[in-house]
Amino acid sequence: MNRLSIVLCLTASTFLAAQNVNFSEDVASIIYGNCSSCHRPNEIGPFPLTNYAEVANRSMSIKYVVENELMPPWPPDPNYTHLVGERILSAAEKQTIIDWVNSGAPQGDPSLEPAFPNFPSGSVLGVPDMVLSMSEAYTTNGNNQDDYRVFVLPTGLSQDREIAAMEFRPGNKKIVHHALFASDINGQAQQRDASEPGYGYTSFGEFGVPTEHFYGGWAPGILPERFPAGTGQILPAGSDLLMQLHYAPYPFAEQDSSYVNIFFTDQPIVREVENYEYAYFNLFLPPDQVTTVKRAINISNDVSLIGFLPHAHLIGESWELYFVEANGDTTKVIRIPDWDFNWQGMYKPLYMTKVPAGSTFYMECTYDNTASNPNNPNSPPVGISWGDNTSDEMFYCVLQYVDYLSGDEQISLQNSLQQEAYDGPTTGMLGVFPNPVTSELNAEAFLQSPSTVRWRILDASGREVSASDRTQFHLRGTHRWVIPVDELSAGAYVLQLELASRILSRNFLKE
Ligand code: HEC
Repeated sequence: MNRLSIVLCLTASTFLAAQNVNFSEDVASIIYGNCSSCHRPNEIGPFPLTNYAEVANRSMSIKYVVENELMPPWPPDPNYTHLVGERILSAAEKQTIIDWVNSGAPQGDPSLEPAFPNFPSGSVLGVPDMVLSMSEAYTTNGNNQDDYRVFVLPTGLSQDREIAAMEFRPGNKKIVHHALFASDINGQAQQRDASEPGYGYTSFGEFGVPTEHFYGGWAPGILPERFPAGTGQILPAGSDLLMQLHYAPYPFAEQDSSYVNIFFTDQPIVREVENYEYAYFNLFLPPDQVTTVKRAINISNDVSLIGFLPHAHLIGESWELYFVEANGDTTKVIRIPDWDFNWQGMYKPLYMTKVPAGSTFYMECTYDNTASNPNNPNSPPVGISWGDNTSDEMFYCVLQYVDYLSGDEQISLQNSLQQEAYDGPTTGMLGVFPNPVTSELNAEAFLQSPSTVRWRILDASGREVSASDRTQFHLRGTHRWVIPVDELSAGAYVLQLELASRILSRNFLKE
């Protein structure tokens, strides 16, 4: 074939592909797998994208956000480093969506559409060991001002507990902007709360009282992950968990009841997770200037970096973290090329990252305090220094680490504990409860990657006595299935979960 006919062929096949693109066969799996986790009722997306009609009605704006890489939201630069929970569409997925919208957003044959994923409700990590809720709803003052409120959640613990994960569940997603967690062991926060009217107390910036442990923070879109086996944090006996919520400016009073799911470790902690906080209080950003602030810290002993939370406010433009070893080798950590105050949180590298003793760790943030920055809170621009109000600025960074142990470079930070609990060769991957069971069996499993799932129940002779009526498609994460077993006669059974790549089994007893 000469070159011209190859070009013609390619054009023709692209054209044909574009012609045939339809929702059921091509687009639904991309939307359900990349968008619906947020765009569904009670989640942070402003409208649902959970079926053909909802997606087709928004097709033009979907094309726009996909073409311009605005959605799914993922501020870090994937060409700099890959991080846990990366949300990025492949070039082919983007093209499929664009072709579909260009060809009029046809539905195709609805029977070919994959089942809508069974998103975990409540927790993305499983069944929490402890839930700490606000004891009453908090009503914001609705005056279009930032409100930083600390709520004191008594743990009631009689002994120290080692925790693998803390999962924040925002109550009112219109106003809850971010959350920070720490523990108080001497009741000072309770006293502050008692001395101020209303539930909780106001504290811009930090917690307003000395704290024992800092547990990191939450911001929309960042999913919690468990710490790897053998590492974790301590929630002390008799402590109060302090939950500092930032309620964004909003013109109307709103109510919020947020809560925290706490997961204890399965194995004792050998290494405690530490949080190093860097704050550059002398920050000053002159008006009408773009200023780059670069700070460095010296690393005195080998550590493994497991998380980082760079933070700035409105005129922050970009963030970059990296370190240079004594021998001159540079390791990139994270780059956020287009800083967005609305999308921030604790990011994790895919694997523990060794930062050897003698390294210099660099933190660099560029601020645009000119009139051409649409996010500038002042018009005309004025000098801005460190402060807690959104209109002040910050140069702040949390580095989460453990002391280095040889082999850390191989430890994955993606739901590590669950991988160990559920990814063994044969057993222990599928949990069932209660067992023995009378009417409803709860089965729970962690899926490493999206998969089709079908369950069936076999009796003692291996005969199938019950099965799910359709194959479902589930995303990566912990999922629970509630399986009716009233019809079964008393005896021993096996529950099988058929995934795309393997079958998980578990015995149970029907009473
Ligand atoms: C992590 C949560 C999350 C995911 C995943 C997500 N969105 Fe969004 N989306 C939001 C939020 C929140 C907004 C509201 C605007 C904002 O805060 O950026 C939004 C806004 C939008 C808008 C309106 C934009 C505008 O300017 O009016 C569209 C369209 C959209 N999303 C489409 C998608 C599509 C398509 C996907 C998947 C490819 C997706 N979103 C994935 C959270 C998400």
